[in-house]
Amino acid sequence: MSSLLATTDFLDELERHIAQHPAVRHPFLQRFSRERLALHRIQSYGLQHYQLVKVFLTYMTNLVARIPDSSAATILRGVFEDEFGQYTVFRSHVHLYQNFLRALGLQDEDWGRIQWREETRNFVSGHLKLTQDGDVLMALGAIGPGHEYSIPLMFDYLLKGLRHNTALSDRELEYFAMHIEEDKDHAVAFRRLIAEVAQTAMARDRVRQGALFSLELRRRFWDGCHAAVFGRSL
Ligand SMILES: [Fe+2]
Ligand SMILES: [Fe+2]
Repeated sequence: MSSLLATTDFLDELERHIAQHPAVRHPFLQRFSRERLALHRIQSYGLQHYQLVKVFLTYMTNLVARIPDSSAATILRGVFEDEFGQYTVFRSHVHLYQNFLRALGLQDEDWGRIQWREETRNFVSGHLKLTQDGDVLMALGAIGPGHEYSIPLMFDYLLKGLRHNTALSDRELEYFAMHIEEDKDHAVAFRRLIAEVAQTAMARDRVRQGALFSLELRRRFWDGCHAAVFGRSL
């Protein structure tokens, strides 16, 4: 089998695996999408999630700087442009998320002084460390399939819960709706890059390990959100 075909098969299989991963089908997401939630519970979730949102670009920057293949920056250019907000910083993903928090009645000082849950801290420090000086192919797996592929699946639950528990407008929920669409394209960009740089079985295995590393931290992050929102651990 050619290495390109092997990589395509590998990525298809990995994505099928991710779609069934406990992080992606987490009880927190299921409950959030279905149950009646008071505003303060949605705020608790929103503030923990913000800590992940605001650091995502740092993972991307760390990662791209470490990929020797010169096509990495070109392949991921669209992902960077979307994250930064293309022509204006006010459309950056961090800004869109802040619009959501403001629509929930929160202010800058609320997201500045929020107490991080341990699971939130572990998620962020685990990804920072991996993208800064961990295995590069693992980092690629964590940010590519581990994030961009899994996010539309998880955000679907969040958006449902937010729609039926709040009166927020489409504009105020744009962060979520947009990621359900955009991250599908971002996942495709990462697939192209992985096909270029992970052409051996060993390299593909490291990509897989990175994706699973990220999803395990994500599973624990949702455990933390479950405790924060529903008041008890799973
Ligand atoms: Fe984003
Ligand atoms: Fe993305």
